[in-house]
Amino acid sequence: MRGIGKRFPGVVALDGVSIEVGKGEVLALCGENGAGKSTLMKIIGGVYQPDDGEVLVDGKPVKINNVVDAMKLGIAFIHQELNVLDNLDVAANVFLGREPLTGPFRLIDQKKIHADTEPYLKRLGLDVSSKTRLDKLPIAQQQMVEIAKALSLNARIIIMDEPTSSLTLTETERLLELVLDLKKQGVSVVYISHRLGEVNQIADRVVVLRDGKNAGELSRQQISHDSIVGMMVGREVKSFYVESTAKRTPAFLKVRNMRSSRYPTKQVSFDAGKGEILGFAGLVGAGRSEIMKAVVGLDHFATGEIFLGDAELPVGKSRDAIARGIYLVPEDRRGEGLVTGMTVRENVTLPSLNKFASVFLINRASESKVANEQIQSLKIKTPNAEARVVNLSGGNQQKVVLGKWLSMDPKVMILDEPTRGIDVGAKAEIYRIMRNLAEQGAVILMISSDMEEVLHVSDRVAVMHEGQITGVLDRPDCKEENIMQLAVGKKIAAAKAAFAN
Ligand SMILES: Nc1ncnc2c1ncn2[C@@H]1O[C@H](COP(=O)(O)OP(=O)(O)OP(=O)(O)O)[C@@H](O)[C@H]1O
Ligand SMILES: [Mg+2]
Repeated sequence: MRGIGKRFPGVVALDGVSIEVGKGEVLALCGENGAGKSTLMKIIGGVYQPDDGEVLVDGKPVKINNVVDAMKLGIAFIHQELNVLDNLDVAANVFLGREPLTGPFRLIDQKKIHADTEPYLKRLGLDVSSKTRLDKLPIAQQQMVEIAKALSLNARIIIMDEPTSSLTLTETERLLELVLDLKKQGVSVVYISHRLGEVNQIADRVVVLRDGKNAGELSRQQISHDSIVGMMVGREVKSFYVESTAKRTPAFLKVRNMRSSRYPTKQVSFDAGKGEILGFAGLVGAGRSEIMKAVVGLDHFATGEIFLGDAELPVGKSRDAIARGIYLVPEDRRGEGLVTGMTVRENVTLPSLNKFASVFLINRASESKVANEQIQSLKIKTPNAEARVVNLSGGNQQKVVLGKWLSMDPKVMILDEPTRGIDVGAKAEIYRIMRNLAEQGAVILMISSDMEEVLHVSDRVAVMHEGQITGVLDRPDCKEENIMQLAVGKKIAAAKAAFAN
């Protein structure tokens, strides 16, 4: 790509960007949230047309007008935001738009698409049937289906825009192996990730974007966490994690015998005190998100008891949970956390709209003030509060979801993968905000599949396995091997009970 420029109303997303990828090369594309990574890749993927510059494949200029053109050139794009149809099964998603037809009625050849899908699932180690509907799968596995689709295209260039952001350790390892495998077969891979450890592990070269421009390039020998970060932000980033200062306080949030509809035969009980960040670790499918949805009343079939102080909270009523200040920042921001067609202001103030409303009117000025406070404190990159959320970069959308609940003075803040897709600088910012909230007396429950994050941010860690808590680790026992043992269901001596009585 040579001298690529792309402008949106009020935003110069790309300004004279050039990159090259060789055959069988793994090129990592790094940069802060909103730097222009996804936009650049959407141009090769045929989603956007560039305003300036040209794209060359095999040395020849090409015009990629749409996604089909890209496919024909052998370019496959695994998008940052999930792009699956969840009312269809796995095979239908893999072959979407190029289904083989059969018989006099030209019907989709179901037998063939299922038979052809299976080997790709095997190759990814994805243990689900090709007949499973996508809405029955957790996000991580939906993501793997997207990867299977890219493989089945036999692409020469595969673009992966944060493919591991919803995967856990084992799945991530498998994906990284797959990337190296593709490389051996001569496939070119462009790999976008905020997880710099992964970049270090697989990249042959790193190109860094900053504010829509090339900020520099690192060869294999020059790649390190610090060199990437330095180039990304143009300064040094120190003191990444805010170390825990919390003292144990009496239980404020008590959850007893909670059963989610996903694991109706298992129950979960735990306590958390004011000022505490309680981490929840576990493998994908351990039931962490399900329990949290039950706690905030989003699972109407859940049973159990929830106490906030001495008051008991009705189960299965999200309205009551919100009224008492129990909020959830969900893992699937696009599906569950945002109304992407609305503006930043509207999203931030949506849950507290009654605060801004008189009988007939919504007070726009005070709404804008609240939205602007969040834009500033979270450093949300947007032209202004009136921009539609759908046009923000992935990481900035995540910040809007956070801002929406932060502006409402939470008593219990539940964060499901809070820094997914967030750049290193902004991560530090979010950890600081979480710690501040805790110091002001909130209870914070954080689900995270990022081991570093779990280890450094939590005051205690509850580890789940197949719908149950296998143990809770106090700060000194929060070690990777302890967490891994509990996550696969083993009992260990360091593990404590999750609640007092
Ligand atoms: N369709 C659009 N309309 C308006 N602005 C857009 C549009 N798409 C992207 N932008 C803006 O272009 C800039 C670059 O966005 P892009 O999504 O490429 O960032 P990114 O580097 O992928 O960030 P992240 O790490 O958060 O995913 C951002 O300021 C974004 O708000
Ligand atoms: Mg992006």
